[in-house]
Amino acid sequence: MTSIPPQPEPSSDAGPGAPPAAPTGHGNATAAADVGAMFDRIAPVYDGMNAVISGFQEPRWRRRTVAATGLRSGMAAIDVATGTGKLAGSLADRVGPFGRVVGVDVSSGMLARARVAGADAPWLEFVVGDALALPAEDATFDAATIAFGMRNLPDYGRGFAEMARVVRPGGRVVCLEIARPQSLTGRLGRAWFERAVPVIGRLARQAEAYRYLVSSVRAYPTPDEVAAIMGQVGLVGVRWLPLTLGMVTVHVGLRPTG
Ligand SMILES: C[S@@+](CC[C@H](N)C(=O)[O-])C[C@H]1O[C@@H](n2cnc3c(N)ncnc32)[C@H](O)[C@@H]1O
Repeated sequence: MTSIPPQPEPSSDAGPGAPPAAPTGHGNATAAADVGAMFDRIAPVYDGMNAVISGFQEPRWRRRTVAATGLRSGMAAIDVATGTGKLAGSLADRVGPFGRVVGVDVSSGMLARARVAGADAPWLEFVVGDALALPAEDATFDAATIAFGMRNLPDYGRGFAEMARVVRPGGRVVCLEIARPQSLTGRLGRAWFERAVPVIGRLARQAEAYRYLVSSVRAYPTPDEVAAIMGQVGLVGVRWLPLTLGMVTVHVGLRPTG
């Protein structure tokens, strides 16, 4: 597991009128209902904005995330905070028609788009629900994923614990999230992100939401702190993979078999 030194305490610049995203020490300070309402508002522009903000790297990040699940044909997965369902769709392609994928999100606006995009795969379903109280029985899935969702949750530990609860012993919990790069080029990329995203958000007439994006990223723990949280909720073999100069990471942990 790569080790990264502790970072200075991040500050929030969410600004007047924006939902606060300051760190609470263990999670995002914004209520799930407010976060869901904000994603309802930005749903129509979400995928296009993501492509631009990620420098069109996002499909590669999702492919690495799917690979990290270890899923095979016929297996079952849950994608938490699934949004417009892009990762869930890729998981559905991976497990095929004899498998099952459930996407869960608090935003019905995001899920409406996911259902349209996933209409040709009946083994893929989308359900409104909270990541901190997943609508699933214990040990139901072979893998649980979350992409760019964990930093939105009011309690990261509970988020990982819920994902661990619904995977079977030996199943994988996989988290793709924006991170704090350490290299000079990575830090330059991060500086571009922090300056460009609010401008792009204003151009899309979604200034508040994209100020929130920057502040929620600043509030999110470092990759080694995220790995420690995963260990605290009982996941084992936790490792993480930095992608695109460390601008994002894929964390993977296993539910113990014993
Ligand atoms: C940045 S989007 C990521 C969407 C998608 N996973 C992707 O990779 O594009 C964050 C998503 O998390 C959802 N979300 C935020 N808080 C949530 C919660 N407590 N439970 C479930 N979903 C939540 C939002 O509604 C939104 O769709």
